[in-house]
Amino acid sequence: MEKIILTGDRPTGKLHLGHYVGSLKRRVELQNSGEYDKIYIMIADAQALTDNFDDPDKIRDNIIEVALDYLSVGLDPAKSNLFIQSAVPELTELTFYYMNMVTVARLERNPTIKTEIQLRNFEVGIPVGFFTYPISQTSDITAFKATVVPVGEDQLPMLEQAREIVRKFNATYNCDVLVEPKAMIPENAICCRLPGTDGTAKMSKSLGNCIYLSDSEEEVNRKVMTMFTDPNHIQISDPGKVEGNTVFTYLDAFSTDSDFAEFLPDYKNLDELKDHYRRGGLGDVKIKKFLQKVLNRELAPIRERRAVFEKDIPAVYEILKKGTDAARATAAVTLAEVKEAMRINYFEDDELIRSQQARFNA
Ligand code: TRP
Repeated sequence: MEKIILTGDRPTGKLHLGHYVGSLKRRVELQNSGEYDKIYIMIADAQALTDNFDDPDKIRDNIIEVALDYLSVGLDPAKSNLFIQSAVPELTELTFYYMNMVTVARLERNPTIKTEIQLRNFEVGIPVGFFTYPISQTSDITAFKATVVPVGEDQLPMLEQAREIVRKFNATYNCDVLVEPKAMIPENAICCRLPGTDGTAKMSKSLGNCIYLSDSEEEVNRKVMTMFTDPNHIQISDPGKVEGNTVFTYLDAFSTDSDFAEFLPDYKNLDELKDHYRRGGLGDVKIKKFLQKVLNRELAPIRERRAVFEKDIPAVYEILKKGTDAARATAAVTLAEVKEAMRINYFEDDELIRSQQARFNA
């Protein structure tokens, strides 16, 4: 069986370091591993509209931001098919048929939907489109017969729902048209949840605690200087805490031994730096300056690539257009198979007219 990846992001904002460690970096590695037959990366604008229907301009503007972020981290359109969800109408049609295989109660039990309803104050009235987005996400995945779906942990309920729909479809129509996907989640805890610069649980635009992939060197430096550390580490000589200290969490996620050799040769590695911080005698400014260099080392090539693509925005849209055309062609094949399995492919079914005539002659 072919190994096929599909994943995507809602274009509600520019992508940040949390996205980078949580998914983008891995996607580029998967892309370059050569182990996958096909890779689809989708900009999920239709899904983003399920809770932003009154602000389509936000989605419209962020499509190009996300595309630039993708290209600048090294997703290569020659290897990864980048496309826009709403421009593949076959996905919507699949969703309409899958809806019949899911109960309202089942959607209500979806833990991700539950928390998102609370977050968005939808308790008073849940938009139907939003409520059913797990079904639409199943279409995204199954249209491409994806076997592997790299996502954050919060998406596991979506994958479970997708697997259920696949099983139900194949059993109901006695076929093996749809493929059960597997989730691929980040390997370590920091990658699952990089805290914001203020030390709160997660980077989020509304909290203003993000470092964006598109931030300049100066912006990154400024944001690092405001980062939350250990509030009880007041004098340099005080012993400091490493756990829950955001600067160290970021160093855990990004620093390498060669960063120490290059930028902070007094220490061999992060363990030595942590030991010194715990003992006391190491100031926050020194570790922050080091983190600035580490982050900018990681971000410099990303910024360089972004600058090149920003100069030719029409070419970026052309990449999306090409990817979308290819995605549509694939989704159309699956949709045709789905309709054949459901026996609603009336005009492609040569037997149909003859057998209906026979029924009326009888
Ligand atoms: N729901 C995903 C998110 O919020 C985005 C998404 C839409 C997606 N369709 C998908 C992810 C299909 C994986 C597969 O991050």
